Amino acid sequence: MDVLTNLSEAAEYSMPRLQAIITAWVMSTPLERAQKVARADGHVEEGEYTKQSVYSLLYSLYRSMGTVRSEHGEPYEFTFNTWGYVWPEAWGPAPTSERDPQRYGRNAYSGLFHFDAVQRRARERAGRVHVVELGCGTGAGADHVCTSVLPKCTYEAIDMQLGGVTTCRKKFAPHHRGRLVATHADATRAPIDDEVADIVAVCETHVTDQGDVMTEEDRKFFRSARRILKPGGLFVWGNSIPEEAWRSSFEFMESIGLEIVETDDVTDEAVRARDLDDPRIQAYIDEAISRFPAFRVPVYGARRRVEAELAMRNLCRAPGTRLYDDLVTRRDPYQVVLARRV
Ligand SMILES: C[S@@+](CC[C@H](N)C(=O)[O-])C[C@H]1O[C@@H](n2cnc3c(N)ncnc32)[C@H](O)[C@@H]1O
Repeated sequence: MDVLTNLSEAAEYSMPRLQAIITAWVMSTPLERAQKVARADGHVEEGEYTKQSVYSLLYSLYRSMGTVRSEHGEPYEFTFNTWGYVWPEAWGPAPTSERDPQRYGRNAYSGLFHFDAVQRRARERAGRVHVVELGCGTGAGADHVCTSVLPKCTYEAIDMQLGGVTTCRKKFAPHHRGRLVATHADATRAPIDDEVADIVAVCETHVTDQGDVMTEEDRKFFRSARRILKPGGLFVWGNSIPEEAWRSSFEFMESIGLEIVETDDVTDEAVRARDLDDPRIQAYIDEAISRFPAFRVPVYGARRRVEAELAMRNLCRAPGTRLYDDLVTRRDPYQVVLARRV
């Protein structure tokens, strides 16, 4: 059993199944040819994991863990699968509370809508804009936007992970009386009509991160976004990806009629968020690991425990990991981008 590749985006795993999966992963340790998670910094090479498997595991884990306590004792359910950033001073007062354990994720979603052009469009339509989000995860950001950012909008949140979409349907959508709909689909083949959205939102969606190589999926992803947007509609996108990936994405977007209007660099604020968030992330990982007795199996359990911790810390861009360093060195700058469908 290889948890990095064997799980399915079309499945949700209950706690008993997760226990069986982690036990099988621990027991398969001696069969593994080479260790996939680098001991030094938690890095896993492209090709050694699939996003289908990794996010499937994470969303099932988040649901099974339920409510936990932050390092300050605040109860919360881990739902923002977002690095996010400290709210930039230049954007005015922070839209989130210092006590909120997931404030950096919330900031990232509020930040997508901070552009004047977005605010103007919402005002012109008395707030009744239609948003489509590609890669919504659990829908935590969709819930935040529907509640606090655009309280009169309608919102369709799409993700390829059934586990994430199920959390959105059960935990968040019922609060919004039909305004928030969650759709289980690959964004490159989204079952959505042409030209329906005022705004397409993308928050740290795991695409367009392969350096200067635009994959077939990346191209389809942008084409899908453009197709769904009304003419003149706005595309808002935040992420930390390689500098060359930004460049090739912008080139491709312009070539299909998504005109780049504005970009804001929030890399410094993203690094600060990762530093400040570290105790919460570590508390969550410790709690998660403690729930799986397989990690207490002598030798193999201990080895897998270290790998699990390192891989999760790297995914969270925690200090000391490869992805954190890529943020600090600006190999992966964090930008918030506004484009318009021409
Ligand atoms: C880092 S998570 C971010 C999730 C969410 N936006 C958030 O901030 O919490 C990346 C998400 O992108 C989704 N994703 C990646 N490629 C996708 C695709 N082609 N179609 C739909 N979702 C995709 C993954 O399933 C995952 O939920």
